Amino acid sequence: MNRKKEENKQEELRQKQFIAMTKELMEHRNQTTGTALKSYVETFGCQMNARDSEKLRGILSAVGFKEATKEEEADFILYNTCTVRENADLHVLGRLGKLVGLKKQNPNLIVGVCGCMMQEPQIVAKIKRSYPVVDLVFGTHNLFTFPQLLYRILTEDKRVFEIWEKTDEIVEDLPVERKYPFKTGVNIMFGCNNFCSYCIVPYVRGRERSREPQAILDEVRKFAADGVKEIMLLGQNVNSYGKTLNQPYTFARLLDQVCKIDGIERVRFMSSHPKDLTDELIDAIAGNPKVCRHYHLPVQSGSSRILKEMNRHYDRERYLDLVKKIRAKVPDISLTTDVIVGFPGETEEDFEETLSLIREVGYDSVFTFIYSKRTGTPAAAMPNQIEDSVVHDRFDHLLDAVRDSGEKACARFEGQTLPVLVEEVNQRTPDLVTGRISQNLIVHFPGTAADIGSIVPVHMDECRGFYYFGSRADA
Ligand code: SAM
Ligand code: SF4
Ligand code: F3S
Repeated sequence: MNRKKEENKQEELRQKQFIAMTKELMEHRNQTTGTALKSYVETFGCQMNARDSEKLRGILSAVGFKEATKEEEADFILYNTCTVRENADLHVLGRLGKLVGLKKQNPNLIVGVCGCMMQEPQIVAKIKRSYPVVDLVFGTHNLFTFPQLLYRILTEDKRVFEIWEKTDEIVEDLPVERKYPFKTGVNIMFGCNNFCSYCIVPYVRGRERSREPQAILDEVRKFAADGVKEIMLLGQNVNSYGKTLNQPYTFARLLDQVCKIDGIERVRFMSSHPKDLTDELIDAIAGNPKVCRHYHLPVQSGSSRILKEMNRHYDRERYLDLVKKIRAKVPDISLTTDVIVGFPGETEEDFEETLSLIREVGYDSVFTFIYSKRTGTPAAAMPNQIEDSVVHDRFDHLLDAVRDSGEKACARFEGQTLPVLVEEVNQRTPDLVTGRISQNLIVHFPGTAADIGSIVPVHMDECRGFYYFGSRADA
């Protein structure tokens, strides 16, 4: 084992000792009070954060916390935050303000905040100063020290704030509590090296680090043995997976290897950057029916000039070429994307190019974002920040284009019979279940809780814009 791996293993053992010590402490406490403490974890942000929350829940459960269904019941509330746009920050701060009342009712309530927002020193300073309701703060780089931090907050009579500026540790084997028994995410890499000029993620998540392929494959095998059918491989730019490993590896190879694992029936991945999309990867998708027919390929803008300012390393033509290549080899693929409107200096002509690109590609869906100025990013210092009224006007037009494109694209499955992985009983109509086709579209059809986790053939009866009503083809 090399020195770094040995250190990571030691750290894992150390954290496991804290889990054991906290568990003992909790058992003693629960015996004295006759009740079990409850925890509530809420995730803000992307799949990466959702996966981190599964780790946080796993640790809380391992030390003996029961899960609270709402904040009012909890003895420990933890917010796993996102800071990609200013709205995300404001939302969390608003929610923290509301916890003051809960703390008055339950003075023993512990409030913790972690995640991307905590990697910003000015936010941490604000929380320290103006949000005394918060007891525990930690960041993305020291998430794996949560067992130790939990022990400290339960034993020390003071607030605990611990944030690291960076880390090169990848601690693999701490407890995890999955949200769904039949599907889960697997981190294949952490951080991002791309520094798109508007984006704060590289500053709060650090440099790109890939996990060893063997560690990823072992984890997926463990999940498969435990009944997981669908795996989502997670990273900010999965297309550059493996480049920083001692023995370089490619994402296409990893995808192939994951597909070979018995029991895994569907493989998804998120997110991928167009600049690193290779022919090898397109071939791996085309040749592997287990890889879901859904490609999320964020474009951000249809204007080559703006793409250059965004530091995206591709232009409109290259992007459209990639779309053509993917569609030629994987004709049934569903394409989705992210678009930012109102980037500094965006002219009416630039925006028109974004609209025309959306029409030309015909995406199944588009995640639309109003540009948000993030302190410390190059775009924040650019001249010609666009006026709010102009941006909102463009945003409305964008939504119209997105709706048109999505409705047309989604309707193409009408009349087909497709395999659907059932995820849950429909919340509004309990005699229906809800699942997803390989292309990630949602389908509601008759079923029961016993169907959850199975893959069922479903006739796609009627498209309702962005989802379907179907009927079982196995009935
Ligand atoms: N790494 C992924 C990629 O490049 O595709 C995306 C990760 S980011 C969390 C998700 C999306 O948020 C981006 O694709 C971008 O559209 C949007 N985003 C990032 N920074 C933003 C900002 N400052 N303002 C508005 N949207 C932003
Ligand atoms: Fe942000 Fe760009 Fe990295 Fe995606 S690739 S996380 S948009 S810097
Ligand atoms: Fe947000 Fe962090 Fe993800 S900033 S989008 S939660 S990587």
